[in-house]
Amino acid sequence: MARLTVLGGGGFRVPLVHGALLGDHGDPRVDEVVLHDVDQGRLDAVAHVLAQQAAGVPDAPRVRTSTVLADALEGADFVFSAVRVGGLAGRSRDEHVALDLGVLGQETTGPGGIAYGWRTIPVALEVARTVNRVAPGAQVINFTNPAGMITEAMQAELGARVVGICDSPVALARRAALALGLDPARTHADYAGLNHLGWLRALVHDGVDVLPALLADPAALATIEEARLLGADWVAALGALPNEYLYYYYYARDAVAAIRSEPQTRGDHLLRTQQQFYADVAAEPDRALQHWRRVRRERDASYLAEVRGADDERSEADLAGGGYEGVALAYMAAVLRGETTTMILDVRNGSTLPGLPPEAVVEVPCLVDATGARPLATAPLTGHQLGLVQQVKEVEQRTIAAARDQDPDALVTAFALHPLVDSVTVARDLARGYGITR
Ligand code: G6P
Ligand code: MN
Repeated sequence: MARLTVLGGGGFRVPLVHGALLGDHGDPRVDEVVLHDVDQGRLDAVAHVLAQQAAGVPDAPRVRTSTVLADALEGADFVFSAVRVGGLAGRSRDEHVALDLGVLGQETTGPGGIAYGWRTIPVALEVARTVNRVAPGAQVINFTNPAGMITEAMQAELGARVVGICDSPVALARRAALALGLDPARTHADYAGLNHLGWLRALVHDGVDVLPALLADPAALATIEEARLLGADWVAALGALPNEYLYYYYYARDAVAAIRSEPQTRGDHLLRTQQQFYADVAAEPDRALQHWRRVRRERDASYLAEVRGADDERSEADLAGGGYEGVALAYMAAVLRGETTTMILDVRNGSTLPGLPPEAVVEVPCLVDATGARPLATAPLTGHQLGLVQQVKEVEQRTIAAARDQDPDALVTAFALHPLVDSVTVARDLARGYGITR
């Protein structure tokens, strides 16, 4: 039996994690959940949703809430970190400051991600130190964005006891398999890069790489969200299926123009809908679950709407992939029960991807068992993929160092070296716009 502590426990996605736990009847399993958040009102709202979601499930995990970090972490077997420092208002500001300067304003990619990392890293380090103190045996699963950067910052304190997760690589691999009529569970995805900056380079089924056939099949590609977003011709030209976030690099001008043409950013939209959710639950706690389901439908319908147009809904087949909560549960199940499995995770590079430092956190297929995650041997990154990943990793590492040392000048350098920031002048304006100055 195991205890899971969720940091950011008042967050809107927590019922997804709880829902995944409700469906897990393995032995041992997570039978106790501690929700931590800095805001008791949000914790209360989510606790109502969970209680209603657990109704009629006899072996549902016990749930308790806490606003005291050390209390929430004490005795945890797993820590799931999904915090949003500065809230959605912070996300909205990350987006707008950059957009106003004519560069990408986005949650994790580009200058918005650097500003978000700067704000989040001190908190992530405090979490890691507290884990070391009160839950030294705990395994930490980091979903806090920018996930690659935050995981790397936490590794300095926690070593291999922290892994980062993301739902996008597994979703991409799943869509690719389904597009060819294959069972995703019977394919191996050769995916590599950084978080939100990777490529599916091969999809192996029965020992054969079926990706070239997929890239040559426009009708099959049309069923894959990433290929629609990036264009079938372009992914065929690349010879690989990029993560959806590569849109911001390959179509940098179009992305900025598209986001600026919308009446609101993704952060603005979520800020409004989520404020409404917490207000609705406070007013009608007995209907918390209904309110949550309604807002969730609205969110999914406009996923990445900023770059794709609001009419492009996520299909049920996509959602059935399990999302990030599925990735988190699969990781915990493998560690708890020693069920050996392979998963794409954010882990220390070591010597996996030549050309990147050993301490760099990379997103690659890993073998997971009772001892945790180890990267599998994979093909090296080459050409423009390696060049882009090296440059963005340097930006991430400079951001981590700047935040650790609280050095605004070092952060300006990180902004300036980002491939989506086209002038040192803009980097200085960004720092000023975000209020990061000496
Ligand atoms: C995907 C990414 C996450 C990101 C999320 C944004 O799930 O993998 O890292 O946070 O999209 O979704 P949102 O609904 O917050 O715009
Ligand atoms: Mn992600």
